[in-house]
Amino acid sequence: MLPTGREHFPNSALAKSALRSGSLGDADTPMREALKPTAEPGWVLSHEGYNILSESTLESRFAFSNGFLGMRAARSLSRGPTWVAWLGYSRWASWPRCYVAGLFDVPNTEPPVSALVPVADWSRVRILLDGQPVLGWKGELLRGTRKLDMHRGLLLSTWTHRTPAGITVTASELRLLSLADRSTGLQLVRILVDRDGVDVKLEASFAMAGLGMEPMRLERDIGAWRTESTAKCVAMTGAASLRVGDNPLAPNQPFPLQWTWCWQSVAGQVAEFDRLVAVARADTPECDPTSRAAARALDRNRALGWRAVLAAHEEAWNKRWLAGDIIIEGDDDAQQAARFAVYHLTSAANPEDDRVSIGARALTGDAYLGHVFWDTEIYLLPFYTAVWPEAARALLMYRFHTLPGARAKAKHFGFKGALFAWESTDTGTETTPERVVAQDGSVVDILTGRMEHHISADVAYAVWQYWNATRDDDFFLRAGAEILLDTARFWASRAVAEADGRRHIRHVIGPDEYHDDVDDNAFTNVMARWNIRRALEAMDLLRARWPEHAATLQDKLGLTEDEFADWRDAVARIVVGLDPATGLYEQFTGFHALEFIDLAGYTDRTVPIDVVIGRQATRRSQVVKQADVIALIALLPEEFPGAMAETNFRHYEARCAHGSSLSAGMHARVAARLGHPEIALSYRRETAATNLDRDPNSAGGVRIAGLGSLWQAVVLGFAGLDLMGDTLSIDPKIPPQWKSLSFHVRWRCRSVAIRIADGTVDATLLEGDEMDMRIAAATRKLIAGATLQVSIEAGPR
Ligand code: BGC
Repeated sequence: MLPTGREHFPNSALAKSALRSGSLGDADTPMREALKPTAEPGWVLSHEGYNILSESTLESRFAFSNGFLGMRAARSLSRGPTWVAWLGYSRWASWPRCYVAGLFDVPNTEPPVSALVPVADWSRVRILLDGQPVLGWKGELLRGTRKLDMHRGLLLSTWTHRTPAGITVTASELRLLSLADRSTGLQLVRILVDRDGVDVKLEASFAMAGLGMEPMRLERDIGAWRTESTAKCVAMTGAASLRVGDNPLAPNQPFPLQWTWCWQSVAGQVAEFDRLVAVARADTPECDPTSRAAARALDRNRALGWRAVLAAHEEAWNKRWLAGDIIIEGDDDAQQAARFAVYHLTSAANPEDDRVSIGARALTGDAYLGHVFWDTEIYLLPFYTAVWPEAARALLMYRFHTLPGARAKAKHFGFKGALFAWESTDTGTETTPERVVAQDGSVVDILTGRMEHHISADVAYAVWQYWNATRDDDFFLRAGAEILLDTARFWASRAVAEADGRRHIRHVIGPDEYHDDVDDNAFTNVMARWNIRRALEAMDLLRARWPEHAATLQDKLGLTEDEFADWRDAVARIVVGLDPATGLYEQFTGFHALEFIDLAGYTDRTVPIDVVIGRQATRRSQVVKQADVIALIALLPEEFPGAMAETNFRHYEARCAHGSSLSAGMHARVAARLGHPEIALSYRRETAATNLDRDPNSAGGVRIAGLGSLWQAVVLGFAGLDLMGDTLSIDPKIPPQWKSLSFHVRWRCRSVAIRIADGTVDATLLEGDEMDMRIAAATRKLIAGATLQVSIEAGPR
């Protein structure tokens, strides 16, 4: 029997106009409403059509995630199969991927290193018309639009396709990973065919289910798999339904996690499909509890229904935007870039799981195999600490849980304390590949895992910053103090006294990875000294406020008074490479003697400088890969008093080739602090371009650290928010073309709204007890409900 109903409009002229416009212009249904993007301008990124050259980067940029699950924005409909195969000179037209944070295994790669395991693409939908699959490469794509609705945290797509048989089909889709219930995904699809009597088959499946994992359970609506060498479990479950017009159709379920429906088309009649999925991960080999957790999550969300699931997700995003949004008036480009950064930063974190951290490409692509670098602590944490401290705490607890791995690594290299993995996955064991085979067949040793030691100070820095901004004593006592002490202990053992009476840190790699195996890298040594100082301060504080805890911790770590004396000695004698006469830090011993290369001669290059002039020539030169001394200016400005910050910025900026996406944003932050808005804006644009434009390097996922640095350039740079002092302070230097800059910040159990406009700062205490706040040079009381207005030029009014 042909389904009929409200949505059946046999007037084929209407059907055709709907098809032309690409929207399914039928009567209102809740699903139709749900598929409408946010109307308010500034929230939706839109992409038309399909282009193989930009597809992979688009899939990264429009990816969506809730910190537990992540999904690339690959088309779910009219796509051929993707298998894992060697492709030679071909390339995949699309790279559909779904990730589960923390699901790591060691695949058969050379060298074998832990990598994030992709799970089933639960969103695959195949449409067959008169038995023929609708495929992107067969027939004609009349219209295809993908919209990233950042406000609602979801992906919307519409496709109109004419098959070789001349049938036109339009499908609109919504896909999300719930921020309200992180185990859950939702997909809504509406389909319309332009004529009567076509045999339509819709097949919904979980593509590539379990690939590379051991199947543990495979039933109608649920599958569970175990990773082979790490023995972790992942369970995926789903429920789907379809209505044609007003009539629900019963599915066939020929195989596990597969549903099919068949009906005959009526021109212009809309079929509505919805699918809920739930995913659970466990770091144990026992899969039954994991399956039960996934099944419970699915039941709970089915009971709610997709409308309530969508509403809860939107509400959760709304809450996050209230806390994290940045509003820039007068510069649409900067506004969009800032929002895009906040969108991905919000998507990447999960305050509910402190066993995982954020990889260099978050959950948006395969590059760097899901590995966690210093990117998280130095480039991302300031955002979370300032606007989402619960997420910041979980990320720092992840490092705390990896302390055993960090201690083992330090010991392995003959040091004391904790040396965190340069590339970390689930256990904290070092996962940097020791070598890779280059395209020309030569074997290149990767020394970062062995030598890039500043990671330990970076973690300590983020711990201190979080604790300073939140005064989360529970975290400090449970984890923070121990991280500070154990990293300081590492540095004291690492900084060795030599015949010159100084303590040296030799054989390291600083942030500038073009120069490996160097001695006394200024960034590393100054951060190490800072780390030891903070650990001594933490110990004093523990003794003063929690003497019992201090004693227990000292006992646990076996710290002696002699050791503390040695730490003080290290602080006094560590080499930092500062020339007091010029105020210039030498990036590492011997750097000034290397060949100067004028980078102005290479502005046209399209590949990194080390590819242009060769690795060895780069190594012998003063060309710097990324912010190194300049990153130090951003992190520890007190080490650059007077004109020193300017001197060092000018010196090293001229030598930086920005060979990493972490570089430009840090330069923007520092230039903004130094009062160079034009330079800062230009670096801000450069950072945005790497992610928002079609940079082919984004194919492997968004560079989340670059997005973190973009946030920092605006909030810590232009607004001059300082999270490291005793009072919350702000010292704006916003570009003249920005009419206003507004954002919220959390500070020691309070929430403060800040607006900078017309030479005035408005600060409003939204939540929490009264507090002091420093605005430019003036410290004032912030009282609940009243807005404090301070003229930046003329002092408080
Ligand atoms: C950068 C590192 C960064 C890593 C991951 C490298 O190219 O030099 O600083 O941690 O990428 O983003």
